[in-house]
Amino acid sequence: MKLCIALDLPTKKQNLALLEQIKEHNNLWIKVGFRSYIRDGKELIEQIKSINPSFKIFLDLKLYDIPNTMADASEEIATLGVDMFNVHASSGKRAMQSVMERLKSLKNRPLVLAVTALTSFNNEEFQEVYSTPIETKATQFAKDAYESGLDGVVCSAFESLGIKNSTSKNFVTLTPGIRPFGEDAGDQQRVATIDVAKQELVDFIVVGRPIYKSSEPAKKVATILEELSTRIMH
Ligand code: C5P
Repeated sequence: MKLCIALDLPTKKQNLALLEQIKEHNNLWIKVGFRSYIRDGKELIEQIKSINPSFKIFLDLKLYDIPNTMADASEEIATLGVDMFNVHASSGKRAMQSVMERLKSLKNRPLVLAVTALTSFNNEEFQEVYSTPIETKATQFAKDAYESGLDGVVCSAFESLGIKNSTSKNFVTLTPGIRPFGEDAGDQQRVATIDVAKQELVDFIVVGRPIYKSSEPAKKVATILEELSTRIMH
């Protein structure tokens, strides 16, 4: 299981300062989302790589548009040199297929994940939008993404194992809403600990506030990495 840190601080300076504190750890995944990318753009991607070239970047822009526009955007994202990005599974199979089709000629294409259900939804809110219970629809979205040739999904930690069982164990799961040791949930509705993520065979955990709001972010990252390297004992 890999740690992916959400870079959601209010300024670029604060984001880069956070990375400076944790740069001793190689191969960390860094999630650049709307806030940071809209404000700091392409230059931020280059700056992250220059702090530690082994850092991997997940560009979390959750594309949702018509197939051709999504394919065009995906091609542009690939040229940024990021290692992973995502689209909404609710954009449909044709849109997801067109993304994969556009990227297939690239030598080193980024991993492409599909968002199933946003982890901030509770069941009632989700039903208002999709008229189906979260679990049923999330599994269907995951199957659609798998059949469209994507590499994996963004999902709740509680859905990871079920999704792998209904697609493939190699189908990647990346799970936000992680509170490694039960920290404050904030606006997330369905938070999970590292133990849950391990049981659910999650591939990537995304952790934001528990790290960047911690008084000692470097120590927090080290503790999480240590926990990830130990096996679950029951
Ligand atoms: O601070 P926290 O650990 O809750 O951050 C979670 C991150 O994951 C945020 O950047 C949020 O936008 C993102 N995310 C999410 N749920 C999804 C997809 C992305 O919380 N389904």
